Amino acid sequence: MTISNNVQKRMAEGSWVRKMFEEASILRQRFGDENVFDLSIGNPVMEPPIEFNQELMRLVENPIPGMHRYMENAGYPETRATVAEQLSLETGISFDKSDIVMTCGAAGALNVVLKTILNKGDEVIVFAPYFMEYDNYIDNHGGITRVLPTDEQFLPKLDALESAITAWTKAVIINSPNNPSGVVYSEGLIHQLGELLRKKEAHYGTQIFLISDEAYRKIIYDGLKYPPVFGHYLQSIVITSHSKDLALPGERIGYIAVHPDCSQREELISGLIFCNRVLGYVNAPALMQRLVRNLQHVSVSVAQYQKKRDFLYNNLIEMGYSVTKPQGAFYIFPKCPLKDDLAFTTELRQWNVLTVPGRGFGLPGYFRVSYCVDDRTLEGSLVGFKKVAQKFNLCAG
Ligand SMILES: Cc1ncc(COP(=O)(O)O)c(C=O)c1O
Repeated sequence: MTISNNVQKRMAEGSWVRKMFEEASILRQRFGDENVFDLSIGNPVMEPPIEFNQELMRLVENPIPGMHRYMENAGYPETRATVAEQLSLETGISFDKSDIVMTCGAAGALNVVLKTILNKGDEVIVFAPYFMEYDNYIDNHGGITRVLPTDEQFLPKLDALESAITAWTKAVIINSPNNPSGVVYSEGLIHQLGELLRKKEAHYGTQIFLISDEAYRKIIYDGLKYPPVFGHYLQSIVITSHSKDLALPGERIGYIAVHPDCSQREELISGLIFCNRVLGYVNAPALMQRLVRNLQHVSVSVAQYQKKRDFLYNNLIEMGYSVTKPQGAFYIFPKCPLKDDLAFTTELRQWNVLTVPGRGFGLPGYFRVSYCVDDRTLEGSLVGFKKVAQKFNLCAG
């Protein structure tokens, strides 16, 4: 066989998000763009903020000599310094540029972190529902994924975590605002999480990292404030990107931030920089580093996403779907009226509405709707949602 058994197995398991996204392309060819309602992938329909184009123009008009050359593997010092400054403002903790490594998006950041910290057989805990690429990334670096349940609000169950942590637990990954549920973890929950991890570290005499995936940190609704993990746990590593907050997923730009008081900080950061290099990323894209440097305080219109969230949530509730109201990100994760989530998403597909079964996030029985789409697509999808709700007796009319 040409490709490895493991790659073959993982490809066969596939990504449900990608499967549905590809399905949408086929349907578009058959029925035309305007008749297909693709709510499968988190590919923001919004354009980057105007400030992004202004920075781009400024750079084109004032090119910097050597701006396309190799650089330090951690990224440009001046970009890392502005990221550190912004993080210091947001967290009240003093970050230095040496705490930051610029990466190829959040996906690149996760791979760099996992390669740096994992020995073969180390365990990494995640909470379902979760972004299923975690599983592939953990496997990339010899780790074993331990999936834990959440409560009815999709929040981690701390008693389950307490019993799941072993001497082999190297990291716990959290993701808030969450893909796919949209929940935002409270400061109280993060604090308890930190306390529990400290207790377990002391018990086993190990180091357990809290990896906080904050790809959606700036997309939060209803005036809620984001509680930074850094204030609650020293062994924390934040990974994030500008794929969602600046609508730049194709440009592959993000970063890793390590708690300035993390133990063995220097060794950890040297490891991260080494892994950024040897994973073949070498460094994050030079042009993007120049551009996002001055955009740390900028984001796409959160109000527009909130409007879409309200529109979809209110309509789904009215149709009789059982839904937890998302507090951030741009996904909603309703319960399926059918036990079989794949069968349910197939019902929606009959109406050219593409969503992703909950099994694609480690939690069957639900389905994910991505609402980072234009209003026409969102409005058009309601017919299918309604027809299927009627078929399964969720609503009367
Ligand atoms: C929770 C989560 N983490 C990480 C990523 C990867 O983001 P990036 O495009 O920055 O690699 C995504 C992408 O959808 C995501 O939803």
